[in-house]
Amino acid sequence: MPRFDNQTVLVTGGTGGQGASHVRALHAEGANVVIGAVDAERGAGLAAELGGAARFVHLDVSQEESWVAAIAETERAFGALTVLVNNAGVQNPPALIESTQRATWARILDINLTGTFLGIKTAAPALRRAGGGAIVNIASTMGIGGTACYAPYVASKWAVRGLTRTAALELGRDNIRVNAIHPGVVATPFITEPAAGSDTPIADFYSPEPFAIPRLGQPADITALLLFLISPHAAFITGAEYVIDGGLLLGPALPKEAA
Ligand SMILES: NC(=O)c1ccc[n+]([C@@H]2O[C@H](COP(=O)([O-])OP(=O)(O)OC[C@H]3O[C@@H](n4cnc5c(N)ncnc54)[C@H](O)[C@@H]3O)[C@@H](O)[C@H]2O)c1
Repeated sequence: MPRFDNQTVLVTGGTGGQGASHVRALHAEGANVVIGAVDAERGAGLAAELGGAARFVHLDVSQEESWVAAIAETERAFGALTVLVNNAGVQNPPALIESTQRATWARILDINLTGTFLGIKTAAPALRRAGGGAIVNIASTMGIGGTACYAPYVASKWAVRGLTRTAALELGRDNIRVNAIHPGVVATPFITEPAAGSDTPIADFYSPEPFAIPRLGQPADITALLLFLISPHAAFITGAEYVIDGGLLLGPALPKEAA
């Protein structure tokens, strides 16, 4: 894998389980990294730990003015933005559609979908100024099928797929590639901590036993795919979607005694 010297990468939700993994790996591979996050203490702490080629910027992805400020700060600090990773995301507390509050629906869509839309909208001119680049949207295997009790999340991630394809069509001529990653179940606070309004971590609903690769995903698994997608090896890949789930979507693997 080539290094990422001369690249400046903005990772939203860059303090989270997967986001921090992306930030650390990109920094280690020579990129300037911008940690766009709402958690100022963790964001500033991670930037300080990494040193000069890392910055924390306050970024609430659901707010357009927050995006404008974050992109401006990125260009001021590093001269250009070359990669955007739309990673920030939130899960809804489990509830049937008929019990889901409109406010919950709006909040999940605001962050997961509108946040990704605003990111593409605001970053595109900066990526164009840089002569091109890449956008990677983190969707989910839950954006491929249906999952009872997670309608806002499922709908938001399905919509990110359409946004990815449309953005790829609109930005291809500007040398900007746009792709999506669909992680399966990844061991981060996202699934290991109870969602607001629920006592039960989502991980309690999953056992990796039936997966072809019988373990949960790790942030580093997703980071490896991200690095490929933003590298020159992926120069002809745009509008594509990559499932990375250890075989979760394939269906149940052979039981141990039959294998
Ligand atoms: N963990 C999984 O099993 C899994 C599976 C599929 C997809 N995903 C997706 O992966 C992405 C990363 O999730 P994770 O697993 O690292 O979970 P995480 O909860 O550790 O990280 C999510 C991050 O998003 C940030 N965030 C939330 N609202 C924000 C806002 N308005 N503005 C900016 N940042 C905000 C949080 O502060 C957090 O840092 C998310 O988009 C999630 O939907 C996760």
